[in-house]
Amino acid sequence: MVINQILKNYIWELFIPKGKAICLSNKYFYITMIINDLKGTVQLSNGVSMPCFGLGVFKTQEGSEVENAVKWALEAGYRHIDTAAIYRNERGVGNAVRVSGIPRNELFITTKLWNDNQRNDTVMAGFEESLGLLQTDYIDLYLIHWPVKGKFTATWKVMEDIYRSGRVRAIGVSNFLQHHLEDLFRIADIKPMVNQVECHPYLVQQQLIDFCHAHHMVYEAWSPIMRGKVNDIPLLEELSDKYHKSQVQIVLRWDLQKGIVTIPKSVHQERIRHNADIFDFELSAEDMDLIDKLDKNHHFGAHPDNFTF
Ligand SMILES: NC(=O)c1ccc[n+]([C@@H]2O[C@H](COP(=O)([O-])OP(=O)(O)OC[C@H]3O[C@@H](n4cnc5c(N)ncnc54)[C@H](OP(=O)(O)O)[C@@H]3O)[C@@H](O)[C@H]2O)c1
Repeated sequence: MVINQILKNYIWELFIPKGKAICLSNKYFYITMIINDLKGTVQLSNGVSMPCFGLGVFKTQEGSEVENAVKWALEAGYRHIDTAAIYRNERGVGNAVRVSGIPRNELFITTKLWNDNQRNDTVMAGFEESLGLLQTDYIDLYLIHWPVKGKFTATWKVMEDIYRSGRVRAIGVSNFLQHHLEDLFRIADIKPMVNQVECHPYLVQQQLIDFCHAHHMVYEAWSPIMRGKVNDIPLLEELSDKYHKSQVQIVLRWDLQKGIVTIPKSVHQERIRHNADIFDFELSAEDMDLIDKLDKNHHFGAHPDNFTF
């Protein structure tokens, strides 16, 4: 641990160009994330650049709600939107992207294959439907939403076919624990490039983060602000006073400094702007550790080994 910290400081001093912040993951040096501003990216194992901060749209209504949220996010400088087939708002995401006038190649759109398509062996059909609703020629990142038992390895082979067809720039998984990933590695020709997992101060799963980074998989946090509940954590209130930033901003900054991509959701313009205002301060190593220590291994969402949907 001490050696890692020394190495980390050493690299910080030697290689960081003035005015830039490059985040190295705690234990391994495979993930390098540039976190200067909303345009900051992390490089996936296939060389594709993924913006390290995005807008989540779970529970955002199809139609004007999602269209406005994406519009405000893009206006605020976000370039990464995270949706899923099961959110039933891909058409609205596609509409907002289309009318934004922003060149498609400057945006990063993630969507996810729903579990029923795995159970019914309709992976390709699920993909085609998402592509159509999003009204785009390609998806930047396509994820298996949950590790459906007995199905996800076969699903992965179809994901690889979709990737080879050139209609997705990257493929990955979501809600995969280490044992799911090890099962996948046994049959995979292409390793997942991203694992999107529930991740916040009460569910850190540092071993899983390290495992993913060691295999050059980007770790991406869902429910990063515990659906607003980070505002109830006393330590974060103290840090909020210290850094003159809100609890939400402290936690989103903690994600980036850990080398984790983060995708907070909001449907309010003010919050969409506020959540992204995290590029003008830096948490100390000691405060990073204090936030790590809040971990309770607590899932607010379903557990990847016994979800029922
Ligand atoms: N792969 C998966 O299985 C999975 C599962 C869940 C989520 N996700 C993805 O991850 C994204 C984020 O996760 P999430 O939506 O579950 O939770 P989250 O981002 O942790 O929290 C969203 C909630 O916090 C509120 N909020 C946003 N900004 C706030 C602020 N500054 N102060 C106080 N409250 C604030 C939002 O309300 P308002 O909207 O009213 O502002 C919303 O109720 C999702 O949208 C989705 O894209 C993926």
